[in-house]
Amino acid sequence: MYTEKVMDHISNPRNSGEIENASGVGTVGNAKCGDIMRIYLDVDENQIIRDCKFKTFGCGAAIATSSIATEMVIGKTIHDAIKVTNKAVLDALDGLPEVKVHCSLLAEEAIHAALWDYAEKNGIVIEGLKKPQTDISEHEHE
Ligand code: FES
Repeated sequence: MYTEKVMDHISNPRNSGEIENASGVGTVGNAKCGDIMRIYLDVDENQIIRDCKFKTFGCGAAIATSSIATEMVIGKTIHDAIKVTNKAVLDALDGLPEVKVHCSLLAEEAIHAALWDYAEKNGIVIEGLKKPQTDISEHEHE
């Protein structure tokens, strides 16, 4: 039921782990299944994402989407990174089974939450970025 790409990312997740002193961290959860995803961003002085890592306590689809999402944002500016939507992630994975599509939303939300955290810390505005609704660690890393 999973595509080859999804299986590959589940078996060999890219960029799993954490970044110490990350420029931005976003943690989101899915209330229904209880899965949690955290994204760490390392942003350089030109606002380019130098590194991105994830920690996901969740299903295979959530792991695959976080893995590919980290690959997709590395090298992008913080402004381009918000274009890594769940649709873009789904396309990059050649799709997910219908019942698993909600899992890919976590990746988009976690990236947005991490970008929001970065923007807040640096007093900047990222156009088009909205305050994350589901950042469950808002006060954890202050
Ligand atoms: Fe919870 Fe996939 S079932 S994120």
